[in-house]
Amino acid sequence: MISEKSIASLKNFDLIIFGANGDLAYRKIFPALYHRLEEGQVKPKSRIAAMLRNTKNNQEYLSTLTKSLRKQIKGIDEKILATLIGKVDVISALTINGKYADLESWLKKSPNKVRVYYLATPSSVFGQIAKDLQDTSLITDESRIVLEKPLGKDGASSALINNSILKYFDEKQIYRIDHYLGKETVQNLMVLRFANYIFENLWNANHIENVQITAAEKLGIEKRGEYYDNYGALLDMVQNHLLQLLCLIAMEPPSVLTASQVRVEKLKVLNALEKFNEDSITTRTSKGQYSRGEKNGKIMPSYLEDVGTYSSETETYVAIKTYINNWRWKGVPFYIRTGKRMTEKFSEIVITFKDVPHNIFPEKKLMVPNKLIIRLQPKEKIEFIQMVKVPGPGGYRYKPLSMKMDYLESFTGKFPEAYERLLMDVVRGNQTLFMSNKELKASWEWIASITENWKSSSIKNNLYNAGTDGPGDSILESNHNWHKTSNK
Ligand code: BG6
Repeated sequence: MISEKSIASLKNFDLIIFGANGDLAYRKIFPALYHRLEEGQVKPKSRIAAMLRNTKNNQEYLSTLTKSLRKQIKGIDEKILATLIGKVDVISALTINGKYADLESWLKKSPNKVRVYYLATPSSVFGQIAKDLQDTSLITDESRIVLEKPLGKDGASSALINNSILKYFDEKQIYRIDHYLGKETVQNLMVLRFANYIFENLWNANHIENVQITAAEKLGIEKRGEYYDNYGALLDMVQNHLLQLLCLIAMEPPSVLTASQVRVEKLKVLNALEKFNEDSITTRTSKGQYSRGEKNGKIMPSYLEDVGTYSSETETYVAIKTYINNWRWKGVPFYIRTGKRMTEKFSEIVITFKDVPHNIFPEKKLMVPNKLIIRLQPKEKIEFIQMVKVPGPGGYRYKPLSMKMDYLESFTGKFPEAYERLLMDVVRGNQTLFMSNKELKASWEWIASITENWKSSSIKNNLYNAGTDGPGDSILESNHNWHKTSNK
């Protein structure tokens, strides 16, 4: 799955992880490094600095990291694990007179390499870290900085964070992670659209009735209540992941596959999104919160019980109908929804085509429109629903049948996890799968039209039982339905 060319273009790097003892580092960054090492993509001279505030118990940190990797990676290869751990040096994240003295001497030992500063810390300290790196003269031309979400809670706070980084790093050096863009099937959207003649010709308001983008989750908020309660489904999932999916579905074909061209096209989509007003906010958005549910006779707690704040009005579900005001998409509803504690976990894009213009067959009710279903996870596949004749005499009987391209059956081998690709793209210096500052700004402007109108129109949450498909939506047009899906 990795081309020889991409392996060849990888250089030795120094990865400096701030927040190296956090959940993200343990669960995503280090496992991703392990797998890339396994694939030969982490070159021998690459090193990792685990930046910790307390460096007294280095050995303890390394053994916790080792245990965590053993627990997460089934059938781990002890030799690769030892090589990975051998690359990790624990370095003090404390500054002396505003300088990272220990990091400076660590970096000096092996100069002229790609430097990746990975900020897996709360965004409140991003600016300070960037400043301290600059004050220690550690930002070279070959340095890049990786920022993890949440990048702010609204346009203003997001701009503050970004500007605090842009003072010291050039936009070309900044990598804003949206892990959805690292998923194989999300990248396949580009190939599906732009490497196949047939789809692109039908990809517009003349032929498409509506587009649905769903990211449903079975889990609740787990141990992230404090974060989640401050953000909610709209900011946690829509502002980033779902808007990025929408961009990939709706954008114009870029003239070349470069980061700048792809980002320009995505930005145009974000700028063309219709903003909400006091009327459309009530008819085209809906939000919800899970209440108690039951599964196999066991009670599933409500969101309020999970979060422990009984007055919380945070939404755990959101559904939105939006329009893209340009020639290609004028009048086509884009439905977006996401929720926690729903029946199943799946992310899916469903393109429903228009009805045939003139139906010559008798049983009109049996006719369903063509649909292209792009299952992003789990059980990645692309399905095309078409009408077929049921064999046998006695006139025309017909039903919808699916033509399937099953990713898992079609390709053997492991699918790299999103972080593996994204990390290596940072090393390569490829920003295609990372959000630009302009995209971020445009997405916040659209989100603000929702949050502000929710507030001024006092839109309340609709309750839904945990383990169900959400509160049911009034946002769908009468002839539209959410596509019924199943993981089976
Ligand atoms: C994260 C959100 O960005 O994406 C989480 O903060 C959510 O709340 C997660 O659970 C979903 O990612 P995935 O890859 O499991 O669909």
